[in-house]
Parts: sequence; structure tokens; C-alpha cells
Amino acid sequence: MTRLLQATGPDDPAIREAAEILLTGGLVAFPTETVYGLGADGLNPGAVARIYAAKGRPATNPVILHVADVAGAKPLVSAWPEAARLLAERYWPGPLTLVLPSSEVVPSIIRAGGPTVALRCPAHPVALALIRAVGRPLAAPSANRSQHLSPSLAAHVASSLGEAVDLILDGGPTEAGLESTILDLSRARPRILRPGPIKPAELALIIGELDTWEGALEIGQRQEAPGMTERHYAPRARLELVDRGRGLSSASGSRVYVGIGALPELPAGVRGVLLPLDAEAVGTRLYALLHELDEAGFDRIVMERPPEGEAWLAVRDRLQRASAKGRP
Ligand code: TXA
Ligand code: MG
Repeated sequence: MTRLLQATGPDDPAIREAAEILLTGGLVAFPTETVYGLGADGLNPGAVARIYAAKGRPATNPVILHVADVAGAKPLVSAWPEAARLLAERYWPGPLTLVLPSSEVVPSIIRAGGPTVALRCPAHPVALALIRAVGRPLAAPSANRSQHLSPSLAAHVASSLGEAVDLILDGGPTEAGLESTILDLSRARPRILRPGPIKPAELALIIGELDTWEGALEIGQRQEAPGMTERHYAPRARLELVDRGRGLSSASGSRVYVGIGALPELPAGVRGVLLPLDAEAVGTRLYALLHELDEAGFDRIVMERPPEGEAWLAVRDRLQRASAKGRP
């Protein structure tokens, strides 16, 4: 059995124990405000290699380094531009990951051999206390097997990674539910690599013009952003995105229909799930819902396509990936 300890506040004794495991090269899953992370000492290449092995993650996909504050971030980069300063001031701790030119301190395995490093300061008391207790940046991708659903509960981590993780800190359900916004500041014009809780317009208010993800939602076209691969965040059941009320006529296998804001009349035998017309609430709930529907054993999840517009960008992105053809 994987070890699981409750950790709800910064002074929880479990945090000390977790820090000791990390300092000796072990893996600890911990809560953040977005999803659970699978943590390792970010300056120990051997420990980081264990993350890749546990997740079944391709070596070409770099991982994010988590820091407790700006002072923890600066030694990891070769430049700290004005945009980084302003954004960190406004959004750290919070669900914003910044991609910057890396310094030599960062092991190559973190960067997948590339010249940049992704940095994030998570807004979760347990995550912050853990980074401080370790005294080093923590490498932490989402704590799930590669290409599977991200975990919003400690139980999701245990079922996805099992024995591969030395300890899971259970801080209850995560708040934002979807992974952080990733902004690439290593190029002349900033660019969003992954839409998330912090929206393009909010970033633009602070740094001016930036390239957004929206034009790149065409699946499979973004090779320059590592890890932005076709199928991702996927449930076991086949997920189909449909216009409201569609996709229900061809009957095969057990089905569930997920509506947003309203439910159409459903054929007998099709279960209905109603989500609110509220992008933030759907983001918080999405992974947990897909995990539940998987566990309930449905063969097909038919889900209403989310509305257009920036508020729904992150939810649309995750659903596009989860519904992409091809098995993980
Ligand atoms: O909310 C989050 O960001 C969560 C929590 C645990 O912090 N972490 C997370 O990590 O989602 P992961 O590994 O599941 O997703 C990180 C994404 C990957 O798609 C990876 O390719 C990209 O960030 N990434 C990491 N380093 C990068 C870099 N130097 N340049 C471009 N993309 C990078
Ligand atoms: Mg992930």
C-alpha cells in the first residue's frame, strides 16, 4: 500500500517527514491549488529520473520547478525580465508558470535538454511549506501516469501511481482543478503554451501583447511546446464532444451525457450529468467528474462542447485533448 498522510496546514508534522524523503531522493505527491504534483528534489537528477519512470513520461517532455518565492526562482534562470517581475508580483503564489532562459544550476533532465526552464510558485500552504522545508526547488509534474487524467484528489494519485510514489500528502480536493497557465517569456513576444486559470486578457493587462493559445487548439500542431502532445488528460472511457443533444442516437455500450447549463431529453438508459454554465466551477470539477465516470465503468462519455470565449479556454483545451483519437 502507498503511504498516505493528511497534511492540511504548513505546520503539519507530515511535511517534515515528506521533506526528509525528498532530500534522500524519494518521491512525494503533494497538493497544490491546481492539481496534485509528483515531487522530487529538483536539483537531484537521479530523483527527477524517478519521476519520469513513475509516470512513464517521455524524456523529451520537461518538468516544472516549483519555488516558494521570487528569491527561490532567480538562481534558476539566466535572466529575470521585467515581465517576469511584474507577473510574479501580481500572480505568485498562484497558478501561473513562467518559462524563462535557464541557468546552469538546473539539471538538464528537468529541461529535457532544452535551454529554458518552467517555474511556478504554487498557492497552497502545504506545497509552500514543503518547498521551504526541503530548501530546494521541487520538480513536480501532475501526479498521474503520462497521458492519463490529472489528479484533483489524493485517491486519484494512489490509483494512478500506486507503489511508485513513496508518500502522498493528502490535503483534500484541489481548488482550481485544472493545471496552471503556462506563459513562455523566453522569446521576444510572450506566448501562452497552456491555457489555465489565469486568462490571456489578465496577462495582457500587465505585459501588453502576447500570443494566445486559441489559434493553436488544432490538435497535434504544436511541436515547439514540449508535452503539448495530441492525446492528454484522457479518461479510459471514450469521450466525445458534441453540440447540445447530439451524439445520442447510435446506441452502443453504456453511456453518460454531460450537459453544460442544461440537459436535453435523454434516451432511456443514458445517465445525465448537469454541469453549471460557469467556466470556473466546471474547471474545478472536471477531472474529478471524469475520474468518477471512469470508475462507474461507462464505455462512452458524451459531453456538450463548452461555449466559445476566453473564460472557457482551459476547459475547452483539456476536453479537446481528452477526446483526441488514439489510446494512451
Ligand atoms: O498546475 C500545474 O502546473 C501542475 C502542478 C503540479 O504544479 N503541474 C503540471 O505539470 O501540470 P505537468 O508536467 O503535468 O505539465 C507541465 C507542462 C508540460 O506540458 C511540459 O511540457 C511543460 O509544462 N513544460 C515544462 N517545462 C517546459 C519548458 N521549459 N518549456 C516549455 N514547456 C515546458
Ligand atoms: Mg500533466
